[in-house]
Amino acid sequence: MQSLKSLFDRKIQTLFPLVLYSVLLLGTSRLVLDSLRSENSYVFKVYGRPAQGQGGRNKLPMAVLPEDRIGEDCNVFEGKWVWDNVSYPLYEEESCPYLVKQTTCQRNGRPDSFYKNWRWQPHRCNIPRFDPLTLLNMLRNKRMMFIGDSLQRGQFESMVCLVQSVIPKGKKSLQRIPPMKIFKAEEFNASIEYYWAPFIVESISDHATNHTVHKRMVRLDSIANHGKHWQGVDILVFESYVWWMHKPLINASYGSPDSVKEYNVTTAYSLALETWSSWLESNIKQETQKVFFMSMSPTHLWSWEWRPGTDENCFNESYPIQGRPYWGSGSNLEIMKLVHDALQKLQINVMLLNITQLSEYRKDAHTSLYGERRGKLLTKEQRANPKSFADCIHWCLPGVPDAWNQILYSYLLKDYQNFS
Ligand SMILES: *[C@@H]1O[C@H](CO)[C@@H](O)[C@H](O)[C@H]1NC(C)=O
Ligand SMILES: *[C@@H]1O[C@H](CO)[C@@H](O)[C@H](O)[C@H]1NC(C)=O
Ligand SMILES: *[C@@H]1O[C@H](CO)[C@@H](O)[C@H](O)[C@H]1NC(C)=O
Ligand SMILES: *[C@@H]1O[C@H](CO)[C@@H](O)[C@H](O)[C@H]1NC(C)=O
Ligand SMILES: *[C@@H]1O[C@H](CO)[C@@H](O)[C@H](O)[C@H]1NC(C)=O
Ligand SMILES: *[C@@H]1O[C@H](CO)[C@@H](O)[C@H](O)[C@H]1NC(C)=O
Ligand SMILES: *[C@@H]1O[C@H](CO)[C@@H](O)[C@H](O)[C@H]1NC(C)=O
Repeated sequence: MQSLKSLFDRKIQTLFPLVLYSVLLLGTSRLVLDSLRSENSYVFKVYGRPAQGQGGRNKLPMAVLPEDRIGEDCNVFEGKWVWDNVSYPLYEEESCPYLVKQTTCQRNGRPDSFYKNWRWQPHRCNIPRFDPLTLLNMLRNKRMMFIGDSLQRGQFESMVCLVQSVIPKGKKSLQRIPPMKIFKAEEFNASIEYYWAPFIVESISDHATNHTVHKRMVRLDSIANHGKHWQGVDILVFESYVWWMHKPLINASYGSPDSVKEYNVTTAYSLALETWSSWLESNIKQETQKVFFMSMSPTHLWSWEWRPGTDENCFNESYPIQGRPYWGSGSNLEIMKLVHDALQKLQINVMLLNITQLSEYRKDAHTSLYGERRGKLLTKEQRANPKSFADCIHWCLPGVPDAWNQILYSYLLKDYQNFS
């Protein structure tokens, strides 16, 4: 508890050191990358092979664990990652034409690929196997929309990739209508959509591409312009965190749009949640619509937090944290509590998918040097300087967001089975 307390005291951490350019070093990472390329690399020598003794899929008697008790007897968010290179990944980069460059780590040159082969295993139950056809049937004549920032976009893309393989060519499409992306499965009259709103409420960062985290101005009491695009959507999945955390203070307006002042981020976040809550209360019909809120996606910016004595980040991490508790200071517990309190107060049910802890273990699964910056892959010089250029916020796909979607799927399935 002592250490958690000291994390609280440190308050809000700045989450964007990667935007700080520093002196470029040349050519030192080459050897490391080459040796990582082999499945027999030192990573497994150092940590031991994942499957051995850990109980891979074979050792887990899938049938004895209650798959239909998610949320009752079983907290799906408590568990561990198990090595499973038989069933995972659920799709491949090449098999999903809808992935953007930001997530295709293999194509972008990531030398190791272990990160694709882990399955989230709750302690007391199994997550039902993701069945694309079942999901499409649940979405028949319906819309599902992911709302939030680029992390939420990753989850949207993951969901599209998880379902698209069962739809024949010509019967599926992806449209870009900024700030939205819309995937349609024609034969099901179903859509999976994404809406860019990094603060959920309105802000000057709402342009789908022309935005920067450096200049933030959030209109804490304004949501109607976004909200009109969310109206009537059958399944809404919200997320907003990392854009708030750039600095401990944020410029915002409340009441008059002209009275911009600096707000404490916790205060601002809580006001934004109030605005969101009242939008939900006056727009959501609980009988026909479902609302989810994704808890914060963790970052792995400071390797000293999981490996004391080091001063790196998520770069060169090929293996999850296992066998011990871990919570990084980037996942702010004050914000977590604000979300908890807001959902308690709400007059309608919003299901919190508390994926923070399970994702905390995955220091290995970020895009690191194999994502993109400003629409481009990293240059050789940038790759030689992981301390400044590794992206330890976004995730490779296939990867961790697939697990979030499997959990989302399991909650949708539970309702679907109860009512049909
Ligand atoms: C799966 O992982 C095990 C080690 O845990 C390895 O021996 C095996 O070759 C891997 N299989 C594939 C298809 O990569
Ligand atoms: C198709 O889906 C939309 C919602 O996504 C719905 O409004 C419409 O009624 C559906 N069409 C049919 C023919 O059911
Ligand atoms: C981006 O937005 C800023 C201010 O919001 C504006 O000044 C600039 O012209 C925009 N750039 C482009 C390329 O649209
Ligand atoms: C708020 O805006 C003012 C004026 O543009 C700027 O000087 C200040 O740095 C901003 N504060 C924050 C926390 O971004
Ligand atoms: C921000 O607000 C929180 C909660 O009200 C408070 O605990 C914290 O001390 C405030 N921080 C600053 C810098 O004012
Ligand atoms: C990468 O990790 C290995 C094993 O943990 C370590 O020996 C090596 O120094 C690391 N390389 C860099 C560039 O951090
Ligand atoms: C989410 O899970 C974490 C860790 O298990 C816990 O500390 C936190 O309180 C949970 N959040 C909410 C809102 O319940």
